[in-house]
Amino acid sequence: MVRQHVNPLSRIHQLARPLPPLIELFADPSLPLHLDIGSARGRFLLAMAPLAPERNHLGLEIRRTLVEAAEDDRRRDGLRNLRFLYGNANVNLPDWLGLLPAGQLELVTLQFPDPWFKLRHRKRRVLQPALLLAIAAALAPGRSLFLQSDVEALIAPMRQLVEASGAFEAAGPEACGPDHNPLPVATEREGQVLAGGLPVHRSLYRRSSAPLPSLAALEAHLEPITSGTDNPLDAEAD
Ligand SMILES: C[S@@+](CC[C@H](N)C(=O)[O-])C[C@H]1O[C@@H](n2cnc3c(N)ncnc32)[C@H](O)[C@@H]1O
Repeated sequence: MVRQHVNPLSRIHQLARPLPPLIELFADPSLPLHLDIGSARGRFLLAMAPLAPERNHLGLEIRRTLVEAAEDDRRRDGLRNLRFLYGNANVNLPDWLGLLPAGQLELVTLQFPDPWFKLRHRKRRVLQPALLLAIAAALAPGRSLFLQSDVEALIAPMRQLVEASGAFEAAGPEACGPDHNPLPVATEREGQVLAGGLPVHRSLYRRSSAPLPSLAALEAHLEPITSGTDNPLDAEAD
């Protein structure tokens, strides 16, 4: 049975394994890159890759069994502009993003990434300040970061972080909104949420030409917003 969640802070997921360079991943490594963080079983990218052959698509996922199953499907479908890799986005992505050729990263998607609702588990959430800065540094002006969640309390801190960086401009409601996904394929989680008649929160950001703050400055800016404690009456186990 595949475990539903892993703790990204556990020692086994903290190993600094370098991710392979684009030349080892794709038939044409010069294509613009779409990075999907938390790609799970991969069905979103397995549908996107044939629809957008002008890009390479890379899914990064912390659950190894899901990566293996997604890679099996990719090979079966003969998709040479798609790869799935095992990794912890916070540990393995920042250095790899820093090595990408300038201008190659076109789109980063982060969709329904977290089960970590409690404030005391916020360090387990995917979009941490260092990762956001690494994404922003790798995205050229005009390139996109797309966020989705069904939990408002989880997308709110992601939006606060992106906006606190000062490095992105939010696209208007004509480009993205609760009733409008700018991408042509729904993720698995998105499909489940919509089938249940529940709302999906979405934000599309474009990288501006603003310089990036330091990590320390960004964290200091966020501190008053993100500090706090869970309700002590919340007795649910970790
Ligand atoms: C709720 S699922 C959503 C999957 C897919 N994006 C969708 O919308 O259907 C979140 C995925 O993110 C993965 N994930 C969580 N933290 C991660 C991390 N630090 N690095 C890589 N993947 C992570 C989880 O293992 C899980 O497969």
